[in-house]
Amino acid sequence: MTSMPRQHITQKKIAEHVQRLGELYPPIPLDSVDRTIKRPGLVAKKFGHVIDYLARVELEVDRNVLELLVLLPDDDETNKTFYADVWQPQEIQHGLILDRLQQDLGRAPVKPHLDLSFPIRILGALAHLKPIQDIARLMYFLTGASTERQAVLAYNHINRGMQHLEEAAISETIITPIKQQEPGHFAFYQMSATAMIQDKVLRPWQLFLTRVMREKSYHLVGTNQMKNFKADMGAVIVDLDLDRDLEGYAREVGRVENRLLWAHKQGMDFPPYILKALRESVDLYRERLERGLKLA
Ligand SMILES: [Fe+2]
Ligand SMILES: [Fe+2]
Repeated sequence: MTSMPRQHITQKKIAEHVQRLGELYPPIPLDSVDRTIKRPGLVAKKFGHVIDYLARVELEVDRNVLELLVLLPDDDETNKTFYADVWQPQEIQHGLILDRLQQDLGRAPVKPHLDLSFPIRILGALAHLKPIQDIARLMYFLTGASTERQAVLAYNHINRGMQHLEEAAISETIITPIKQQEPGHFAFYQMSATAMIQDKVLRPWQLFLTRVMREKSYHLVGTNQMKNFKADMGAVIVDLDLDRDLEGYAREVGRVENRLLWAHKQGMDFPPYILKALRESVDLYRERLERGLKLA
C-alpha cells in the first residue's frame, strides 16, 4: 500500500494530462443549467448548508491563485497552464453555479474569504529561495490532492442525496457535470507530487521540514484555519454522514501524502493530523449546536 507506483511520472505525462483536461472539460456555462427545483424548501433544509460551503470554497479559487503567485513566483509552464487555463476557469464556474443554486433555494449569496493568510505571507517572503520554493511546491501539490479528494467525496454524497430527493435537474445539470471535473484536478496534484518524490527533488532536510509543516498547518478544505469555518466544515461532515467513519474518510483524504511523505512509518493508514482536523471540526460543530447557535 505504501509503495511507490511503478510507473514513472514524467513532466511530459503531466503536461499531456493538463492539455487533455482543458480539451475535455471546458468551463460549465451558467445557461447549461436546468434550474428546476421540485422542493426547494426540502433541498435547502437537507443540503443548503453544504451547498453554501462548497460554493464559498469554489469561489475562493481566486485567492488560491493569488497564494500561488506569492508562493511559486518561478512556476513552470505546465503549472501555470493548469491553474490559469484549466483549474481556475473551471472552479469559478462551479462557484457561480452553486451560488446561484443557493439563491434559487432562497438562501443568501455566499461571501468568499479572499484574504491571504499569515503563514502564506511568511512563506511567500521566503519563496524566492530555491530550497524553500521546492518545499512550498510540494506542500501546494499535497494540499491540492487532499482538497480535490474532499471535493470529489462531497459531490458524490450530494449527488446521491439529490437523486434520493428526486431532484433530477440539480443532479444531472449541476452536480454531475461539476463532479466530473474534480478527479482530473486531483490527478494533476497527485501526479505532480509523486513526480517530485520520484525525482528526489527534495533533500532529506527539506522532506523533514515538509512533514513538520504539514503537521502544523494541515487544514480541511475551506476552513482557512478559522474556528467558524472549521465548525461549518464539521456541519458539512455531519450533513453528509461522513462522521460515521472518520477514519475511513481520513484514509481517503490522506492517501497521497501518506504514501509520499510517510512511507517510512510502516503500517500507518493515514497521517494522524488529518483525523485530528476532522475530529476538531466535528467537535466545534457539536459545541456550536449545544450553544444553540446553529447558523443553518
Ligand atoms: Fe470545483
Ligand atoms: Fe477542483
